Amino acid sequence: MKQRYALGIDIGGSGIKGAIVDLRKGEFATDRLRIPTPQPATPEAVAAVVKQIADHFAAELGDGPIGITVPAVVTHGRTRSAANIDPAWVDAPAEDIFREALGRPITLVNDADAAGIAEVLWGAAKDHPGLVMVTTLGTGIGTAMIHKGTLVPNIELGHIEMFGKDAEPQAAASVKDREELSYETWATERLQPYYERLEFYTWPDLIVVGGGVSKASDKFLPLLKLKTPIVPAKLRNAAGIVGAAWLAVDALANPDALRGGEGPAEAAAKGKEKDKKSKKDKKKD
Ligand code: BGC
Repeated sequence: MKQRYALGIDIGGSGIKGAIVDLRKGEFATDRLRIPTPQPATPEAVAAVVKQIADHFAAELGDGPIGITVPAVVTHGRTRSAANIDPAWVDAPAEDIFREALGRPITLVNDADAAGIAEVLWGAAKDHPGLVMVTTLGTGIGTAMIHKGTLVPNIELGHIEMFGKDAEPQAAASVKDREELSYETWATERLQPYYERLEFYTWPDLIVVGGGVSKASDKFLPLLKLKTPIVPAKLRNAAGIVGAAWLAVDALANPDALRGGEGPAEAAAKGKEKDKKSKKDKKKD
């Protein structure tokens, strides 16, 4: 990889964090800047904070690439879901919104995908030759699937069905806090059935567990009985920023890999916008 430095920005529910990343080492090359997430966290309000972060690192970054994570599905520059963020992100042309706010191109990716690729390149799954499933346990459950070093983007396995319902609001780390579950209860009653299903559907060679709670992994990972080895993430809260920076540089080399052309979903979303516009125009007439 020729480009050594890039800016990674990680958009979370409570904070938006950025740092320049040294991609030879997979480490921050500067201090991290954190600004609280604006409320409501609409794409435009978040873009204004992202601009503040980009401005802060302008001297170090020069015209280097910028990678940004969001806790949502991202296809072809559009955010497509909003499980734990403002509903305004659904079908928003988010990459364009950021590009306009910053006055330069950026690469937008799913937060778990960024964390996942960073763990495979520099963390708990470094150089793993098989199928790695990285899960992030936080407000929601993020998942990233990396096969022989290649990321399959937007795998949303935090939302698989468990006991007839979405797994995320039953097993995420936020649920442990909200329901005041002990590590033991959370592990045996929530994580055990969740990871059993995950391995039944995907048969990974290694499962990596990230998110803030992974600091305390010794309190819950040893309680899980699975076929697949399951280990804590190594990069912790740096993973999103480091992975975003790497994916931004990767996107320069392989512009079509994550963005692609206009997919059917984008065409449909544009069609809907056109419909809305023409209805408005008709009303005006
Ligand atoms: C979203 C994912 C995201 C995860 C972690 C889930 O609710 O659907 O896209 O990666 O939360 O933020």
